[in-house]
Order: sequence, then structure tokens, then C-alpha cells
Amino acid sequence: MRFSCYFLCPILFLAITLFTSAQQAEILNTYVRPHTSLNGSWKYIVDPYENGFYNYRLQAFEEQEDPGKNAFFTNSKPADPSELIEYDFDFSDSLHVPGDWNSQKEKLFYYEGSLWYKRSFDYQLQNPSNRIFVHFGASNYVSDVYLNGEKLGRHVGGFTPFSYEITPYLKARDNFLILKVDNKRIKEGVPTLNTDWWNYGGITRDVKLIETPDTFVHDYFLYLNPDDPNQILGFVQLNGSQKSEREIQLNIPDLSVSLRLKTDKDGHAEIDYSTRQIRYWSPDDPYLYEVEISSGEDQITDLIGFRTIRTKGDKILLNDKTVFLKGISIHEEKPLQGGRGNSLEDAKQLLSWAREMGCNFVRLAHYPHNEHMVRLADEMGLLVWEENPVYWTISWDNPKTYANAAQQLTELITRDKNRASVIIWSMANETPASDSRNEFLTNLSALARKQDPSRLISAALEQGRVNNDPLIRTIDDPFASVVDILSFNQYIGWYDGLTDKLAKISWSIEQNKPVLISEFGAGAKYGLHGDKLSRWTEEYQEFLYEETLKMLEAIPQLQGMSPWILVDFRSPRRVLPRIQDGWNRKGLISEKGNKKKAFYTLQKYYQSKD
Ligand code: GCU
Repeated sequence: MRFSCYFLCPILFLAITLFTSAQQAEILNTYVRPHTSLNGSWKYIVDPYENGFYNYRLQAFEEQEDPGKNAFFTNSKPADPSELIEYDFDFSDSLHVPGDWNSQKEKLFYYEGSLWYKRSFDYQLQNPSNRIFVHFGASNYVSDVYLNGEKLGRHVGGFTPFSYEITPYLKARDNFLILKVDNKRIKEGVPTLNTDWWNYGGITRDVKLIETPDTFVHDYFLYLNPDDPNQILGFVQLNGSQKSEREIQLNIPDLSVSLRLKTDKDGHAEIDYSTRQIRYWSPDDPYLYEVEISSGEDQITDLIGFRTIRTKGDKILLNDKTVFLKGISIHEEKPLQGGRGNSLEDAKQLLSWAREMGCNFVRLAHYPHNEHMVRLADEMGLLVWEENPVYWTISWDNPKTYANAAQQLTELITRDKNRASVIIWSMANETPASDSRNEFLTNLSALARKQDPSRLISAALEQGRVNNDPLIRTIDDPFASVVDILSFNQYIGWYDGLTDKLAKISWSIEQNKPVLISEFGAGAKYGLHGDKLSRWTEEYQEFLYEETLKMLEAIPQLQGMSPWILVDFRSPRRVLPRIQDGWNRKGLISEKGNKKKAFYTLQKYYQSKD
């Protein structure tokens, strides 16, 4: 039976508002929850002067006693023909959600600014005592969210999920959900002003409505003790008015596990269970267990793989066996179509190209990718490096910048902490060493280890010369003492000399830690051929790969690599006519899906590592 929430509203909303105002919650683990999709056609208004957010004195409408009808988030209409209202969503153009605006509208290709989205929907709670949330997979970069004219919140960060409880504001009919999304690059942002990728703006991932009982399974984490592969550790967290001293049933049928847990007064229950029957997740056997967690009326079933990952000296041990990471770096762009990637089909194409190349590892650069990528990697048995967009010249001294980086890292770890494929959290990429930067990254590392003791920490570190000798290189980054894996990007033969230089370079790395080359590469225009010293030819890229692999093999601690990059990708920095035309050409595959000669060089090398 479906209750209309019309006649129950006043009493119900008061009760719910009292409760939920004290426990405003988010909704997590939405991949495995039933949901109502709000994907599809949304109305939009481009608003470069933020005329729908500020009055002409640059005062925010939402901070006024009465925002007035010219605040776009009120979705107002003239009460009579004499009333002046200078916008109307319903007669505006539409954009598809999920999707960046740049690749949908020619006039928005380079647009960086604010754009308003509006979607109307009806919804009736299945049970009047239930709660309801709106969840966004990601929206780049600052998103102000309103429902029926009420401000739900503001999210900063373009690549991590966020959600709001809308129970107190929901109507049975004609709800209007409005966002102002602003993708302007800002110096104190994360990332900051300068990046080598396209600044795709908009609601770039799925939008869902999720209904839950009053008390529900808010979060959970199950992982193997890195020092004891027979011990499952973790927690379950409830949210709601009945979360305290509550029973939880946790079942893993294939492991004959049936655990009855009891929450403490905060709705938290720890997991600590030993068993000798675990079928470990690995690239060769990506086995995922069905994990059932239930409490009261709420029940979640997730697929979780169990494995350990740790380092020992200069080795990386997966389930206590040495593993060499045969990887490739990937940007989140729709293969063959362009634009921000976000679908399962996009993930299947990108990861199947990586698998075809012989990879057992992918580096998802330079920001958290959509959840399909890590869920599919779990199924395919691909190991994953995930990265917080602390990229290049971040405002290291700005506390708000640190808080933003910490929030985005937390949102990433919260989303993906149960994914066996994810083995590395990367704190940063190519950031200039300084005391404030070292402190910033060291604090982020401590935060990551506190939230997740089961994975490895890395970052693309800075390198230098030994005794100022240009032919002997080393890692001279203070942050190397903090990370588990020493990663760095090197471009000898592209930004640093020509390919004939590679044979002259040696590496002297004294740290007894695994070394992973997070980037190397060269640009090549697919179909452009010539000799191996002519830049932009496929032969130049192919020769650089051949010579680089020889150089890297001489590094004793080498335990993996993720060359730059799987596919050519859009970048406003790459403007060389006839060659780049707005594309970074270091892909081993062109943006049209054509494999370049160097693809086969790396494929052959990885086959030799089997
Ligand atoms: C850097 C950076 C990448 C960039 C690449 C390049 O290493 O990490 O984001 O795209 O070099 O210059 O192509």
C-alpha cells in the first residue's frame, strides 16, 4: 500500500524535522540500493553574471529575509501579466544529465562559469515513516542545491559523490530540484587554476532518489587485517532514531559467516571475525563474496573481495605474493565520443583496452573516476590507483584548500573503501616540494591511513640529480619518507632531451621501498609516420617506449609502471595546429580508437613480464 504523504505531512514532518535536523545524514553505498533515477533531460540557464544568485548589489538572494522571485532557485512564475520575472526554466533549453555541458552544446564548449539546472518530479513515499535522499555521483565544481526553493547545501569538488536528506521538503507532486553549478577554476581550488585536462562542467554523473526506513544501514567497511589474512575487520554504522543498541545481521553465505552484531549508543558495531576458508581476491581470481547486512527493515547486499596488500622492503605483496604492476594511466573521458566519462559502457571500453594491452593495473588520473570504473575493476581483476586532485601548484598555505582536499579524499575513501581492486590512494601529482606542501600531504596521508589502514599510500614525487650530474637521477622528495610506494613521472626523451638521451641515464634510488613509474610517454599523432627522431610520429613514440623500458629495467626497486596514457585526451593547453588541435597526443590509442605502434611495444613488454 502506498500512503499519500499529503494528509500526514504536518505531524510527520514536524517529527522527522526534529529528528533529522539533529542528524542530517547523507546516503552512501547507493550502487547497491534500489533507487529512482533523475537522469534525463534537465532544463538549464547559463548565468555567467550569477544574476539568479545575487541581486544587483551583489548580495546573495538566499541570504535575504525574502529571496524574492528573481532568485532562480525559487523557480517563480509571474502571478499576473504585470509581474516582472526575467527567467523561465520551462521555456529554456535542455541538457542531458549525467553529462558535462561542454560536449553537449557547441556554445558551451569552452564555458567556465555558473549554469543553473532544473528538474521537476513527483514522488510518494512508500511508507510515511520512511526517509528520502537525493544523491549526486559528482558535479563539477561548486554545486548549490535547492529543493522546492529550500537550500539543501553546497558541495565543493568535481569528482566525488554527495547527497542530502529531502524528507522534510518533499511534496507528492511537482517537486523542483535546482542546482547552480559553477566550474570556474580558482586558485584556492582542488585542483587549482592550472591543469592539463579539460575543465568539463556540470552534473557529470548519475542523480538518484533513495528511500530508506527511518533507521538504516548508513555505512560499512570490511577488510582483511594486512598482518593476518584470516581476520576480517571493519564496522557497520546505522543512522536513524533507532540506531542505538540495535541488532545487525551480517551474513557472508559463501564463507558460512552469519554474525549477529549489536550497535553501541552511536549506532556503531565493530567487525572482527577470523576464518581460514577465504578465497582471496586477485587479478587471476577476482572472487567477490555476497555480503548481506540487515537491521530492522533495512537490508543491503554488496559484492566484496577479500585480499591483503602491503609492501616488504622494495616489493609489493598481494596476498603475500610479489606482484609487478603492469599498468596504464587513464583520464575519465568517454572513449570515441569525448566528454566526461560516466557510464558502465565507458568503463567497459577503457578497461577492456587496458586488459587487451596486458595490464593488471590502472592509474585513474588525476581525480576520482566514476564508481563504474572501480566496480568493474573488482569484477575484471584489475588493480587500481585512485587519486585526489591535489595537482601541481595547490595553495598549500590556505586552510580552506586543505579542508577541501581532505573532504574530497574522505569522500573518495568513503565511496571505495570496500573495493578490493583499489590498492593505492594517491595524495598528489607533481607538486613542488616545500615545507607547507610536505605538511599538507603528510596530513592528508595520516587522514587516509586513519580512515583506511588496509591500503598503500603513494604520490607522483619530485626527482633530482645525484651530485648535480644530469645523467644520474634520483628521488629527492621529502614526501618519499611518508609514502609506501615511491612513484614519479619522468619524461626523459620528451620534455627532457631526445630519445637518444635515455640510454645515457641511470637511476640511483636509495630508499628501500617499491618504485612505480607513474608516468612516462611521448606525443604521437595517429597515422603520422617518419623516422624515430621526428617528434609527433608514431615511430618517435615507439622508440621512446623501447628506450625507456630498457632504462627503467635497470632500477632494482622497479615494481611497476603506468605510462602516460591509454587514450589521447582533450586539453586546452595543447594547441599545435594539425597535430594537437586541443588534444594531448600521448595516448597509445587515438581519440577515435586507433592503436598506435607504441601500444604494441608496451603490450609485448607486459607479456614478457608474465
Ligand atoms: C604531467 C602530468 C600530466 C600531463 C603530462 C603531460 O606529468 O602529470 O597530467 O598530462 O605530464 O605533459 O602530458
